[in-house]
Amino acid sequence: MDIQEKSISIEKSNGRFYTPQFIVENILDMSGYYGVGIVKKHVIDNSCGDGAFLVAVVKRYCESAKQLGLSNDEIAKDLCLYVHGIEIDKEECEKCIRNVSGVAQFFGIPSVKWDIRCADTMEVNDYNGKMDFVLGNPPYVRVHNVGESFDRVKQFSFAKSGMTDFYIVFYEIGLKMLNQSGVLGYITPSSFFNSLAGETLRKYLIKNNLIEKIIDLKHYQAFAATTYTTIVILKKAREDNIMSYYQFDEKNRIPYYIDSLTPDDFYICNNFYFSNINALHLLQKIFYNLGHCDVAVKNGFATLCDDVFIGDFDFDSAYIIPVIKASTGKRARIFYPYGKDSRLIPESEIQKDGNLYRYLLSHKRQLTKRSNENGTDAYWYAFGRSQAINDTYKNKLTVNTLLRSVSDLKLISAPAGVGVYSGLYLVGDMAKLEMAKKALMSDDFVAYISLLGKYKSGGYYTFSSKDVKAYLDYKLAYEGGLFA
Ligand SMILES: C[S@@+](CC[C@H](N)C(=O)[O-])C[C@H]1O[C@@H](n2cnc3c(N)ncnc32)[C@H](O)[C@@H]1O
Repeated sequence: MDIQEKSISIEKSNGRFYTPQFIVENILDMSGYYGVGIVKKHVIDNSCGDGAFLVAVVKRYCESAKQLGLSNDEIAKDLCLYVHGIEIDKEECEKCIRNVSGVAQFFGIPSVKWDIRCADTMEVNDYNGKMDFVLGNPPYVRVHNVGESFDRVKQFSFAKSGMTDFYIVFYEIGLKMLNQSGVLGYITPSSFFNSLAGETLRKYLIKNNLIEKIIDLKHYQAFAATTYTTIVILKKAREDNIMSYYQFDEKNRIPYYIDSLTPDDFYICNNFYFSNINALHLLQKIFYNLGHCDVAVKNGFATLCDDVFIGDFDFDSAYIIPVIKASTGKRARIFYPYGKDSRLIPESEIQKDGNLYRYLLSHKRQLTKRSNENGTDAYWYAFGRSQAINDTYKNKLTVNTLLRSVSDLKLISAPAGVGVYSGLYLVGDMAKLEMAKKALMSDDFVAYISLLGKYKSGGYYTFSSKDVKAYLDYKLAYEGGLFA
């Protein structure tokens, strides 16, 4: 155990969530907080907890200062002058001071008057414009969970759009603290890449040319909680508008370089998308494509009570048809109370089918509990939503919506008379469905879906009917030469 691990572990407590050391070290490295250049440079962690970042900062500062031959007394003065922390929780703040003191003592530095204060960072202004480095892991708390702080949070300009989060406000605070050439290095959720709440932040970062590096941790979970995170390095006074994009090597726990990008590459339709340049150009072609193919992509049946509607019924009925569960490809049977014209079969007709009607009556209470888009009790035995009913008697191809690679795709033919639920389906003539199948069963499609960044646990990505439609419109209309 080295000095840093030792001083942190002294004060670790019951399951609270801290930044692991390898993340801290990576952020410091990526921000340029190393070497003799950090001596007499101001650094702050404005939500310092028990000091995960400040312990590493103090260790690096002491090493560099000693390398330059500074005396212990001078280093003690420097640590008080140049290393700053803010933490709202008194106990955490005290732990932090004990932890950084442990590091200073290890280097033989006498008592330091630490500038680590217990305060609400949203109310601290006196570091503004003065910091060379702002480093840390700001709090992630949705604004509707922040209680009394709500009104204060909403006063920040980055908090104006959508359901914001504390971490977005901490970007604003951190940027304000930087001096004219300062560097900010945070690890935060990556949700601001494309969330409504992140819109003002994205615009600001682009307008002011602040993005120096992005290290997208993608599915990698650096913390105990399920949060998809990214390391972001922002820099003031950048000379060009090229940023470096990295992903994270889970095994060696280090970033690896992917590509150099400009906002023209990654700022697409007001959102951030990161990948290599070729994948981003494909994404732009898909997003900006004006072509259109006549394959529709839709959501399957929504009964809102699959337990009753779908199963292995032990009787036959004219109102029970085959159905495919798009998410698994599994075949089953479904009670389908509609005619070929998609109209609901009257209850008086269903009643004539004794077995079926008895079955329905035995589940009537459960069925009437559903919300029903028609808002009338007469529809108690209908599907909860009418989606997909119009396509039951057309040729379809089912599509599951969770994938990691091409081999996860389940594209199954659902011919006329077979329904689809729990996933998507394509509808169009046979030849076009065949072309669509080929287009989807490709690494390009998987690359496109992973770029959209809709993470699911287990390394999976999900996608919507709109995402598939945009891809097919591009692939089939242009590459397949099929303008509808
Ligand atoms: C995600 S933790 C990170 C702690 C530490 N920087 C680390 O990386 O281990 C966020 C910290 O911010 C503190 N915090 C939350 N709201 C704050 C506020 N308004 N002002 C200052 N600190 C705050 C929390 O108490 C918590 O210690």
